[in-house]
Amino acid sequence: MFKKIDSNNIPVHIAIIMDGNGRWAKKRLLPRLAGHKAGVNALKRVVDAAKELGVKVMSFFAFSTENWNRSKEEVDGIFDLIENYIDTNYEQLMSSNIKIRTMGDISKLPSSLYKKLIDIIEKTQNNNSIIINIGLNYGSRAEVVRAYNSLINKGAKSITEQELMKELYTFDLPDPDLIIRTSGEQRLSNFMLLQGAYSELYFPKIYWPDFDKKALIRAIINYQKRERRFGSIKQEKK
Ligand code: FPP
Repeated sequence: MFKKIDSNNIPVHIAIIMDGNGRWAKKRLLPRLAGHKAGVNALKRVVDAAKELGVKVMSFFAFSTENWNRSKEEVDGIFDLIENYIDTNYEQLMSSNIKIRTMGDISKLPSSLYKKLIDIIEKTQNNNSIIINIGLNYGSRAEVVRAYNSLINKGAKSITEQELMKELYTFDLPDPDLIIRTSGEQRLSNFMLLQGAYSELYFPKIYWPDFDKKALIRAIINYQKRERRFGSIKQEKK
């Protein structure tokens, strides 16, 4: 039977660990960067589809605090791709009413990329069809340490859960309803660990560059079959 998406139960926030770019390239005897380039196209495709389906926030893990360990060529290549994405998509981001923001310490990125990020965040700040939240030099543990230090600097001796959550990069965003990691790996790898405390997890085998609208719909239909309880017990049918 043809499965249909329930338009009344679309996840508000979907977060994605875009994994498998290197393997996608290797399978085609291409350099790793060709995989990342195809990954950027997948990101654009998926944002368009998500916006059409009514998703409000998409978070993407583009560069982790651990990704600095990769070769300089690959690291620089990923940064160049992101700069190029900003340069070539400005008009489309504005006409599609897309808001860009980031999580992670972007001040440690190359200064040309840092400046472009600050500029695009500012220019798109009033757009409101969908938010693209990009994890760049991001890791959950560093995020928690940063939040904790910020509270200490404000004079806190002890903190509450709410205060901690308000110091995360995502302080004003809803938690992800669904976290997707492509390529078959089943780990969160330091990604949105606090925000994802109650997220549904989905691990399709597909490599990120192959992810498309169909794959997104499949993920959402899978999500819609889950029963979310947030720690409470199953609701009895009346
Ligand atoms: C993981 O695949 C992918 C990355 C570490 C980089 C992803 C970055 C992009 C697609 C660019 C994002 C662009 C914008 C505009 C935000 P992998 O290299 O670990 O793949 P593998 O496990 O198969 O080697």
